[in-house]
Amino acid sequence: MQLRGSTALITGASRRIGRAIAERLADAGCNVALHCRHADEHAHACRDACAARGVRAVTLEASLLDPDAVAALPGLVVAEFGRLDILINNAATFEPMSLADFSLDRWQRDLAVNLTAPMILAHASAAALRSAGGRVINLCDAAAERPFPGYLSYCTSKAALESLTRSLALALAPEVCVVGVAPGVALWPDPMDSATKERLLSRIPLGRSGEPSDIAELIHFLLERGDYITGQILRVDGGRALR
Ligand SMILES: NC(=O)c1ccc[n+]([C@@H]2O[C@H](COP(=O)([O-])OP(=O)(O)OC[C@H]3O[C@@H](n4cnc5c(N)ncnc54)[C@H](OP(=O)(O)O)[C@@H]3O)[C@@H](O)[C@H]2O)c1
Repeated sequence: MQLRGSTALITGASRRIGRAIAERLADAGCNVALHCRHADEHAHACRDACAARGVRAVTLEASLLDPDAVAALPGLVVAEFGRLDILINNAATFEPMSLADFSLDRWQRDLAVNLTAPMILAHASAAALRSAGGRVINLCDAAAERPFPGYLSYCTSKAALESLTRSLALALAPEVCVVGVAPGVALWPDPMDSATKERLLSRIPLGRSGEPSDIAELIHFLLERGDYITGQILRVDGGRALR
């Protein structure tokens, strides 16, 4: 698809991988609607960095725990930009939950952010995406297949998001391609101790962590060149899935 002049809605775009994606799309001439939990200094910095690349950039504040606020986002983008071509479900919550820690409230909150919000957004965006011949990209996780111990709700939510990616690819075909991008380690969680980092790195055949730009570059490729790719989950994990 032609990125120049298109419009993308990116969730959790204020920092880290979301910001890298936003700036990469802005580099390609794509206007960006930057969803954030709070329009704080990180959100404004990302908006300004994108606008400095010559595209239109706005921040849209919403808690992904509020289904009505989530459902309203695509309409706000269409009202602002006149179109919505690309939905990137990047935001997520990543918190430990062991069997002993299980609480129904926490479980439901984690699934609401990581799984239900992408579903609501896909539903609310579907008409605009169809008429644009657009794309949905879901940020999954290589850990969906080989779960981290003690991250029950997170790993379950990401495994379900993979499944949702395939179902949405069928539901939105033939107009819209839907792809999952599954990082391994693209950016360490903050905080993380060095012993845990070493242990995780030892399982990565390429021997190093990735970078947010690895994710942003793949997404750029998928949007610009991936016209015949849908329903796939593409790992960007340095080969971690092999071990
Ligand atoms: N980092 C990695 O190496 C890695 C590895 C595998 C998969 N992934 C996936 O890649 C994506 C991006 O990773 P990341 O590490 O950059 O993500 P992150 O920093 O953990 O989270 C991204 C954004 O999600 C937003 N968010 C979380 N809960 C929210 C809520 N209830 N309402 C609104 N916004 C909310 C956060 O907003 P605030 O800033 O306001 O908190 C944050 O900016 C995620 O889907 C993640 O699961 C990342």
